[in-house]
Amino acid sequence: MLELVEVSRIYEMGDNIVHALSGFSYTFRNGSMTVVSGPSGSGKSTLLNLIAATDVPHIRRYKA
Ligand SMILES: Nc1ncnc2c1ncn2[C@@H]1O[C@H](COP(=O)(O)OP(=O)(O)OP(=O)(O)O)[C@@H](O)[C@H]1O
Ligand SMILES: [Mg+2]
Repeated sequence: MLELVEVSRIYEMGDNIVHALSGFSYTFRNGSMTVVSGPSGSGKSTLLNLIAATDVPHIRRYKA
């Protein structure tokens, strides 16, 4: 089982801030199949990179 709880990933490029994932929660259960689908830019690769641990999520982010 793999459980994602309130996972967020923000990309910052100068003044440009992209909220690629915002508080995403999902539980992948053993023996079940999950399809990740959505339009280009919806965050599929961002999600898979986090699951593969090739990237790290933003646990929580506060405005200064
Ligand atoms: N390294 C990065 N730096 C800045 N912005 C990024 C980066 N990677 C992704 N983004 C942005 O994050 C958002 C989600 O991108 P992501 O690549 O996860 O989407 P996707 O669903 O995999 O798209 P596609 O179907 O085109 O592969 C998009 O707005 C994208 O421009
Ligand atoms: Mg992609």
